[in-house]
Amino acid sequence: MKGAVIVNQTQNVTVIMVDYDQSRMNDLYYQIVKSSPFITVIATSTDSIDLKQKLDSMEPDAIFMQYHMNDCNAVDIEKYCREKDLKTMVFATLPSQIYNVNTVMYGKRNGIKEIFSSDTVSPQEVGMRIVDTVHSFRKEYEKITGQDFSNRVRKEIVTKHVTKVVSQRIIVTYNTKGGVGKTTIAVNLTIAIKQSPYFSGKRIALLDFDSGGGNVSTICNVDDEELHSKNLAAWDSIEENEITRDIIEDLMIQDKNGIMILAVPLNLVQAKNATKYELGEKIINGLKKHFDIIIIDGPPNISPLADAALEAATDVLLVANPEGQSIKQLTKLTSLLNNIEDGDRILKKMYLLVNQAHKPTKYDMKLDRISGYLGKPILRYIPNCDEVLEALHSNGQKQAIEINKEGEYAKAMKGLANDLTGCYPVGDFDAETAKEKKKRKKSFFGIFGG
Ligand SMILES: Nc1ncnc2c1ncn2[C@@H]1O[C@H](COP(=O)(O)OP(=O)(O)OP(=O)(O)O)[C@@H](O)[C@H]1O
Ligand SMILES: [Mg+2]
Repeated sequence: MKGAVIVNQTQNVTVIMVDYDQSRMNDLYYQIVKSSPFITVIATSTDSIDLKQKLDSMEPDAIFMQYHMNDCNAVDIEKYCREKDLKTMVFATLPSQIYNVNTVMYGKRNGIKEIFSSDTVSPQEVGMRIVDTVHSFRKEYEKITGQDFSNRVRKEIVTKHVTKVVSQRIIVTYNTKGGVGKTTIAVNLTIAIKQSPYFSGKRIALLDFDSGGGNVSTICNVDDEELHSKNLAAWDSIEENEITRDIIEDLMIQDKNGIMILAVPLNLVQAKNATKYELGEKIINGLKKHFDIIIIDGPPNISPLADAALEAATDVLLVANPEGQSIKQLTKLTSLLNNIEDGDRILKKMYLLVNQAHKPTKYDMKLDRISGYLGKPILRYIPNCDEVLEALHSNGQKQAIEINKEGEYAKAMKGLANDLTGCYPVGDFDAETAKEKKKRKKSFFGIFGG
């Protein structure tokens, strides 16, 4: 595999990285992985609910986290690991302005292995310390228990992973396997971003690029009559420089949340003609001038439209179910990209989402195995939720995220929205609470600033 380093299994150290600031984490993550061939980052996380879920299923060798998170701190996580009898070690980092001996002593007394000062310690040193500490622990473990530690060791692939941080996002849901949850995620993620009180002014578009059988319009209950004239095929005769506000209003459909939808035609012949790479490229380029966030629901195949979407994407969400087939399908895609010129550039913007589209079974693959297979950390695990099915029967009136705003699906989608865009910065994923907090902050400045 291109961009991969094979290391001795017994030396490999699995790590989950945790930071409420996704872009800072991506940056650090790349630097640490680059500087230490022994470290495999098997997942990243931005909040404690998601982190605990990943800890339970992956039991990494180490966590490297911001000491103070929005909804927990490193000591809470250390306690959680001990309660659950996990062998995971916690390493933390503190901004150097607040790095002080009291916090460090308190953290260490409570079992945190090391607390680094963010500006004075390099990512190389952090990587080295984590690897050294885990290696010494393993030696001790083997001495005391007489058991070979390498049984616990998982993956030998270290993958480079870089994320470009740009303010405009073009997010694509993709897997060449069908029925894994791409459309459900695309629709609910779009609503999650749109409903963020911090993103109220952002312009958001949802494009259906599954020209062979796209069902965004069905899920969103778009009127058939409107669909006849407002669809992908209608954009064929329009030049890129003609894509103006008026054209957008004429050829896209606005949903009840204010999201602009570009659907696929109802007519199959029209749909077949609307698959050209140039059409996809032109639409995305044209819409980029008018929208802050563009979400594209990808098809379950390799097609010219999918190519255009992957090319333009800032983030590709590889949606997989925890069963062998959908993972196998993704490995085919990643090895194809590994073998084509420039494929590495697309691989680097791909994230792995594990979506439990079916009820869990004993045949499901463990999350760390999935991550290892694909050589990619898992961005998020999305649980199997009844509200997804309930939404299908609500005739597009309500999406899963709207049916139960406090539910696991809504939390996962808002967490994912935050991972990708930072649109829920306060960490709790409840739009109302966030709104209140924002208001409170404003009035605080109103009193003391004015
Ligand atoms: N997290 C989940 N919990 C429960 N059911 C889910 C979940 N995710 C997806 N599903 C169900 O899985 C089915 C397939 O979902 P979806 O249509 O989103 O997949 P897809 O990948 O877009 O399919 P296609 O490739 O055919 O376009 C749907 O019936 C949906 O209700
Ligand atoms: Mg679909």
